[in-house]
Amino acid sequence: MTDSTNTPGATLIDGKAFAATLRAEVARKAAILKQRDNLVPGLAVVLVGHDPASEVYVRNKGKLTLEAGMHSFEHRLPDTTGQEELLALVQRLNEDPAVDGILVQLPLPDQIDTDAVLAAIDPDKDVDGFHVVNAGRLATGLPGMVPCTPLGCLMLLKHYVGDLSGLNAVVVGRSNIVGKPMAQLLLRESCTVTIAHSRTRDLPAVCRNADILVAAVGRPQMVKADWVKPGATVIDVGINRIPKEDGKTRLVGDVDFDDVSRVAGAITPVPGGVGPMTIACLLNNTLEAACLRRGLALPE
Ligand code: GUN
Repeated sequence: MTDSTNTPGATLIDGKAFAATLRAEVARKAAILKQRDNLVPGLAVVLVGHDPASEVYVRNKGKLTLEAGMHSFEHRLPDTTGQEELLALVQRLNEDPAVDGILVQLPLPDQIDTDAVLAAIDPDKDVDGFHVVNAGRLATGLPGMVPCTPLGCLMLLKHYVGDLSGLNAVVVGRSNIVGKPMAQLLLRESCTVTIAHSRTRDLPAVCRNADILVAAVGRPQMVKADWVKPGATVIDVGINRIPKEDGKTRLVGDVDFDDVSRVAGAITPVPGGVGPMTIACLLNNTLEAACLRRGLALPE
């Protein structure tokens, strides 16, 4: 695998290539499981309603799960689905021995209590790592399922930076899905971690202190060059659609890529950076969940 391409300033962190390598590793291990244990891991994805972005993600997840040699079970429910009906489906998936991983695509429609649904998923099948038990395991250093996007960011950081110990890491964003678990993972790597958010005073100054800067706020191109310490590693989790002059749209991150590339040491592009890592980590979590649940050794 080629690791990096040199842009004028920063090294481009190629998440697309890294994710393809990780998916190939998962496929290789799935083939061993099938031969050694007669086991094919299964991932169930639940989509409620017709959110266009969610439809795209779910289609991709299904395709890549099959490509990795695992079973994919898709459950599409109408956007009028009630709480009890969704909880009943989650319960069935918890009890289904062919299902090793359960992912309920977010966001859910307004009539559904998202926390209650996430709490109903068996923590050992919670391949998203969103259950409070898995959040607690991560916070206390116990093994558990780790949310896919921050896990993908950490893999890229360890690959491109190496030992993270002692580095100043700033995570901008405090969501349960990205910001908080990202901070926990960086702490586990012995970084000095700051979580910044919309109320942070002098956000640019806080960011300038970062050797590792992770942006996960959902604000297009918010992070500018003068927010970034020269040579810092910048991980952009944002996926924002903005209008172009010709009336079409394009995807940009939370980082002003062209501006920040001039000062950063390394940077993830959008698209092609963090995004592809999320699904690759989901497949990896599903394979791990299948082994852990059955007390099987993970294939080498
Ligand atoms: N919606 C956007 N990203 C995600 C994700 O990683 N998991 C789930 N369940 N829903 C999402």
